[in-house]
Amino acid sequence: MNRVFIKTYGCQMNERDSEAVAAMLRARGYRIVGDENDCDVLLLNTCSVRDAAEQKAIGKAGYAQHRKKKNPDFILGILGCMAQNRGAELLDRLPDVDLIVGTQKFHQVPDYLDNLRAARAAGVPVGASIVDIAEEAGSQNTIRDHLEPDAEATPQVGAFVSIQQGCNMDCAFCIVPKTRGDERSRPMDEIVAECRTLAERGVREITLLGQIVTSYGRRDYVHTNGISPFVQLLERVHAISGIERIRFTSPHPRGFKQDLVEAYGRLPKLCGYVHLPMQSGSNRILRAMNRPYTRERYLEIVNALRAVRSDMYFSTDIIVGFPGETEEDFQQTRELFEAVNYDMAYIFKYSIRTGTPAATLPDQVSEEAKEARNQLLLDLLQKNSLRRNDLLLGTVEEVLVEGPAKNGARFTGRTRGNRVAIFDAHPRLIGSLVPLKIERASVSTLYGELVLSGVAEVA
Ligand code: 5AD
Repeated sequence: MNRVFIKTYGCQMNERDSEAVAAMLRARGYRIVGDENDCDVLLLNTCSVRDAAEQKAIGKAGYAQHRKKKNPDFILGILGCMAQNRGAELLDRLPDVDLIVGTQKFHQVPDYLDNLRAARAAGVPVGASIVDIAEEAGSQNTIRDHLEPDAEATPQVGAFVSIQQGCNMDCAFCIVPKTRGDERSRPMDEIVAECRTLAERGVREITLLGQIVTSYGRRDYVHTNGISPFVQLLERVHAISGIERIRFTSPHPRGFKQDLVEAYGRLPKLCGYVHLPMQSGSNRILRAMNRPYTRERYLEIVNALRAVRSDMYFSTDIIVGFPGETEEDFQQTRELFEAVNYDMAYIFKYSIRTGTPAATLPDQVSEEAKEARNQLLLDLLQKNSLRRNDLLLGTVEEVLVEGPAKNGARFTGRTRGNRVAIFDAHPRLIGSLVPLKIERASVSTLYGELVLSGVAEVA
């Protein structure tokens, strides 16, 4: 009766939230299982950023409802962004869902499950659903409590650390301000303490997470000597011994002021991989999107970062087919895309999100045009990515050994530039930084041999 399966849709923040819910449930005596067909409680932690993501979760929930016919005690919950976005209205489509919990109420999930199970045990007729999508003051701090001693969790090499939630930017296409609420930052001391604990447990790589991390602490901390609170946080995490690599996602281009650019020059643990969401390369569309930068400024940031680290890797988010995007606008995007020479990119077809300013704009772009633009950028990306990987052939890259690769026989790790690598290794090397001689490359993966001379314990 206490086996829980959590299925996560969407971004790393959602992954992190699911991990947190899992940790809280374990502490409450629930068992987190790996087989969704063999669970008593199915929780879907959902995403709303595009319609397809919502439809996927709705489809899954619709299907899962049938399980109640066989087992009336089965509990089905929808958590996270779609729960927040649609609330009780979801019950019109999915009347048998037991639990709808929004993004500021994850910490209530154990109590709600206990209540539902107690009601079942007491013979209360099934049917009353719990819906909680309220705001909660201080909910950014409840995330801290998720770092409970978690004996069952497998030791991690990399960890996500939530530093901030919500976003106040009001990009015209984006549902996130509705699903995640206003910007709230976790206290810096708490974040640093969590990173220290993680380092003590063997974590080597920290990814700082938030919807707009570059705005971290802007209302809570002052700039000191021109250094923003976000860069102050990077400095403090950098000072923790045991932490070898620092990444963050997602930033906003407007956060890349001189202090952050310079940080790449003086903080060696900061990985040379920058995810810099461009969204569009047309100034007209950027304005319509309410993105406060130009293509010229964007390229200036890229060049400034490359001036500090010539081997910097770049990735981006692009939306094709934003309302009113003409062929000329798209050519501007394509041109900037080529100029930056991305190593990685997430390319999205614009998806109408009810309640956002862009949803009601005239001149929606046809599906065919969106598809063609999407494909064109994907083709460019493939070429770029392979070219970058080919350049690494014969060179030696530092990899952080993460664990067994999917097929089990070999091991996997990532380079500082976030390239996935596959190699033979000894399990004792998990968590170590080891040089890797690159011997073969595909679009997305590097293959090679560890250079173990000098890696004392194992040689
Ligand atoms: N349609 C398509 N893509 C979107 N994104 C955000 N909102 C939409 C939308 N309505 C993309 C943006 C963002 C990424 C997380 O998702 O590129 O950076």
